[in-house]
Amino acid sequence: MSSNRRNFLRQLAVGSGALAAGIPAFASATLAPSDRELERALEQSNKQQRFNMSGYAAPKIDKVRIGFIGQGMRGPGAVQRMSFIDGVEIVAICDLLPERATKSNKIVTKSGRPAAKEYSGENGWKEMIGKEKLDLVYITTPWHLHTIMALYAMEHGCHAASEVPIALTLDDCWKLVETSERTKKHCMMLENCCYDFFELLTLNMARQGLFGELVHAEGAYIHNLLDLNFSKNGYQNMWRLRQNASHNGNLYPTHGLGPIAQCMNINRGDKMDYLVSMSSNDFLMGVTAKEKAAQDPFFNEFVGKPYRGDMNTTTIRTNKGKTLMIQHDVTSPRPYSRIHLVSGTKGVASKWPSPERIAFGHEWIKDEELKKLYEQYTPEIVKRVGEIAKKVGGHGGMDFMMDWRLIDCLRNGLPLDQNVYDAAAWSCIVPLSEKSVSKRSTSVDIPDFTRGAWKTNAPVELTLKGGGTTGVIGVENKGESKQLNVH
Ligand SMILES: NC(=O)c1ccc[n+]([C@@H]2O[C@H](COP(=O)([O-])OP(=O)(O)OC[C@H]3O[C@@H](n4cnc5c(N)ncnc54)[C@H](O)[C@@H]3O)[C@@H](O)[C@H]2O)c1
Repeated sequence: MSSNRRNFLRQLAVGSGALAAGIPAFASATLAPSDRELERALEQSNKQQRFNMSGYAAPKIDKVRIGFIGQGMRGPGAVQRMSFIDGVEIVAICDLLPERATKSNKIVTKSGRPAAKEYSGENGWKEMIGKEKLDLVYITTPWHLHTIMALYAMEHGCHAASEVPIALTLDDCWKLVETSERTKKHCMMLENCCYDFFELLTLNMARQGLFGELVHAEGAYIHNLLDLNFSKNGYQNMWRLRQNASHNGNLYPTHGLGPIAQCMNINRGDKMDYLVSMSSNDFLMGVTAKEKAAQDPFFNEFVGKPYRGDMNTTTIRTNKGKTLMIQHDVTSPRPYSRIHLVSGTKGVASKWPSPERIAFGHEWIKDEELKKLYEQYTPEIVKRVGEIAKKVGGHGGMDFMMDWRLIDCLRNGLPLDQNVYDAAAWSCIVPLSEKSVSKRSTSVDIPDFTRGAWKTNAPVELTLKGGGTTGVIGVENKGESKQLNVH
């Protein structure tokens, strides 16, 4: 059989399986809402909020029973990190492919914990959620599966934590909000970049007023993933390439947006009002697809696709008259950057291009002064688990701080740092940027997922008040339990 035909049949099989399971297809024609859909999504903002999940504390869970879905590149690291956290039970692991669940289970048993139950197949995750009495479903699957899995988890009595972006359409953003409010289950998008060291420092400094009134902030996801996108074995069934081949906008806004949105108190004192988005043409993906197909017919189906522009720039204006700029470029050969620039009436912080810099006037401050700021304004979470997080790893430690904080909040009955409104607001930039790009960068209004509660919601918590009691095990000495000092 020709590989073209094989590809066609494989596509068909995936597509029909997905349809049968009610799973959204890989990449729909457009994520941009129609004018009517956009209007409907905006109208939702004016309705009465059913229940405010911002600041909501769910009942305490002593031992957090977790089920994981998706064990490709990202998932096993999550299993590994959770295995170091006390008060966690790794109950079940699921992947489409059984061997991946089995491989991650080895991480569990190697850590000295009992083996988890394994689930697999297209609907194994439903079976897992139905059978195991889980407290938390931790989702690390491709983008188009996040919403459906998070919704199902909440409907079945579990808190949901999903990789980014948690939703690709406005409808899905609203479904998540309404389901979280109705079920009173947390729905957290795992925006790990909010837990990076400089980001937490600048958040605390912004909160203490060191930058004055914030006026403008910038974030980005600039990461050359051209090779990964075209890698046949790097990830499952070319889902990244399919997304990039069919949508034109900012497909991955949350790493850049999350940390600056927290600094700007978005959904907690301010809100995003509207955006304007512009994309360059595609100069890299279409050409690469052609080159690859000339060598390997596997890539034939990716030739001639409407690839998204290499660089997307989206600007957002907030209700309080502040501006945010977010960029997305995952193809250009340039160094990694999330920019992370926070600029106010008294000062500015900037992380990329490195080094990390802070200024309160014309000159960047000296290294010794930056060190002093770190000493003075590092938030409690970093002081508590920062060093241990560096040892565990996961993007330099931020992934572990995120997981530890999530578990600590669940165990102590604290509100989560990132709630369903943050998840929806940060993710909705995907469809809305595509909408603006498709209309010559016209401005597009952003729904208020908090339905007005942003005016009174408290800012994200920066202390460990009421918590900080969760230990870390086995990091220093594999297999041995080392309780973290709790004070
Ligand atoms: N926050 C970060 O720093 C970060 C880093 C990398 C990836 N990610 C995100 O993590 C997610 C996963 O990315 P990845 O690189 O691991 O992709 P991947 O393709 O390597 O892994 C996805 C896994 O999901 C599994 N899967 C697919 N359908 C399934 C189903 N129906 N049931 C159960 N499992 C299913 C696949 O078999 C695969 O093992 C994406 O959302 C990605 O954007 C985030």
